[in-house]
Amino acid sequence: MQEIKNIGKVTGVISNLVVVASEAPISQNETCYIKIGEERLLGEVIKVDGKDIFVQCFESTQGLKVGNEVEFVGKMIEVKLGPGMLSKTYDGLQNDLNKLDDLFLKRGQYNDALDADSKWEFTPTAKVGDTVQAGDWLGEVLENTLTHKIMVPFKADGVYTIKNIVAKGKYGLEDSLVTIRNTNGDEEIKVTMVQYWPIKRAVKCYSEKVRPFSMLETGVRIVDTLNPIMEGGTGFIPGAFGTGKTVLQHAISKQAAADVVIFAACGERANEIVEVFTEFPKLVDPHTGKGLMERTIIIANTSNMPVASREASVYTAMTIAEYYRTMGLKVLILADSTSRWAQALRETSNRLEELPGPDAFPMDLTAVIAAFYARAGFTYLNNGKSGSITFLGTVSPSGGNLKEPVTEATKKTARCFYALSQKRADQKRYPAVDPVTSYSKYLEYSEVIDYLHEHISPLWIENISNTKDILIRSNEIREQINILGDDGVPIDYHLNFWKAELIDFVILQQDAFDKIDAMTPMVRQKFMLELVLKVHSMKFNLESFEEIATYFKRMINQLKQLNYSEYESDEYKKNLKEFETIIKEKRIQ
Ligand SMILES: Nc1ncnc2c1ncn2[C@@H]1O[C@H](COP(=O)(O)OP(=O)(O)OP(=O)(O)O)[C@@H](O)[C@H]1O
Ligand SMILES: [Mg+2]
Repeated sequence: MQEIKNIGKVTGVISNLVVVASEAPISQNETCYIKIGEERLLGEVIKVDGKDIFVQCFESTQGLKVGNEVEFVGKMIEVKLGPGMLSKTYDGLQNDLNKLDDLFLKRGQYNDALDADSKWEFTPTAKVGDTVQAGDWLGEVLENTLTHKIMVPFKADGVYTIKNIVAKGKYGLEDSLVTIRNTNGDEEIKVTMVQYWPIKRAVKCYSEKVRPFSMLETGVRIVDTLNPIMEGGTGFIPGAFGTGKTVLQHAISKQAAADVVIFAACGERANEIVEVFTEFPKLVDPHTGKGLMERTIIIANTSNMPVASREASVYTAMTIAEYYRTMGLKVLILADSTSRWAQALRETSNRLEELPGPDAFPMDLTAVIAAFYARAGFTYLNNGKSGSITFLGTVSPSGGNLKEPVTEATKKTARCFYALSQKRADQKRYPAVDPVTSYSKYLEYSEVIDYLHEHISPLWIENISNTKDILIRSNEIREQINILGDDGVPIDYHLNFWKAELIDFVILQQDAFDKIDAMTPMVRQKFMLELVLKVHSMKFNLESFEEIATYFKRMINQLKQLNYSEYESDEYKKNLKEFETIIKEKRIQ
């Protein structure tokens, strides 16, 4: 149990906002426990107004009375960091949900985030006499398939010298492994495998944060080919109810080339979360061939959990990600949906009777979202190695209105925008990412342009912008055909329209439920884009719009077969040959 620093008394309860009177100097964001009989409910100070302390309680406050005691522990809400977090499913306050018989904890129940009795084979990588600072690597253990660094605690302040380090061997989480002393000699820290860090404060144990420049492959064509996200980049997926946000995020979480994936299911429906629980453990990581859960951490909060723990869950996910980034790893965080998080902020702000901003969201919503996204990024560590956190959130704008405050605020911050279109979802053109309005601002970065030039092809950027132009023009042609009728436009309109449809069906659309089609490696994406662009530049001997439609539908079917066949397999080669035969039938140049 944590040490009690100060005591207060409940003077008011408004749902999960608890007003507490205390004479003691209580600070903003301090952690406290509100007592109801034997139960101790976790809370966080969200406003201090003289002697009135406003606490958001992470639990249901049913039965709480004026006069109940509140214990303040003098520190902020923290996560416990150490080996053993991978494969775990936590709630927003880092309770290990696997340790429960039931899916949810009882009120006032908190459990250990790590496995207290676990032992790890520690290999020292630093030596006595080395000077170190917060976040520096001292040794390593093997966590699932990852090399997990044991680091100088992030809270260590200044420069230290290693006085003592244990030999290679099996140790427990709380065993002292390394002793470090600061340069003044007045502070000594015994480093174990465990450390704590407050979730609302960014971990800054790195020498430099730079603009993202290398691609994070997701295997999703509309992302990688047209709107790539970078390692350490940020993006978001706004989409109305049922347009495919969760399916797209799940696909990315399974396929992305990341070392660690943290999936924060904040405030989504309970059944979707159960899906994650049951589906993920059975899946195989396409990069390592090992179980997908080995690199995954799930943070689950459903809409039936109190709002405040939803608010905490995104911060918990980010802090754990920062811990792994400091080990030099590529971390990907997916949050579904950040709108539920913003709603939690709104509820709290309303209860505090703060002056409301648009749609009653807090006035500082944009700043809160920007500060959160800013914790992602590509960093160079003190030892010259690099690590990254890529963040991809979904937003659920009510009624699909992209002008609502959470979408607008996120748009100002996130660099990639994957707008799901209701129309495309209705037409079952999945993933329903709108090819015209979506973008990746990384394509404007000179570092990214250089990277794509070198790693994919010197013509890649040009190919992407050509493809986008073709898709935009085809929207215009479609409108004209709709207005003037099939016979009312020149035949070339039909040809160009169908050439764009080929790109739509073969590149943009992708079956997230087919093993092969769901994940397209970059070499294959390059080949396919170049193939459809080549077709786009060809001339054909086609005389009527009916003939064009029939011919292109055959091409589309053939290339869809190709998409479903394993890359470079016999079936793949056969499908490609058949496609070439179709092309030869009508091609004139
Ligand atoms: N890439 C895809 N391939 C095939 N089907 C898809 C794809 N994306 C979405 N779907 C279909 O759309 C349905 C709804 O998708 P999903 O649950 O991801 O929507 P959502 O936007 O997360 O909805 P909500 O707003 O309710 O959270 C899926 O059950 C699936 O049938
Ligand atoms: Mg969803």
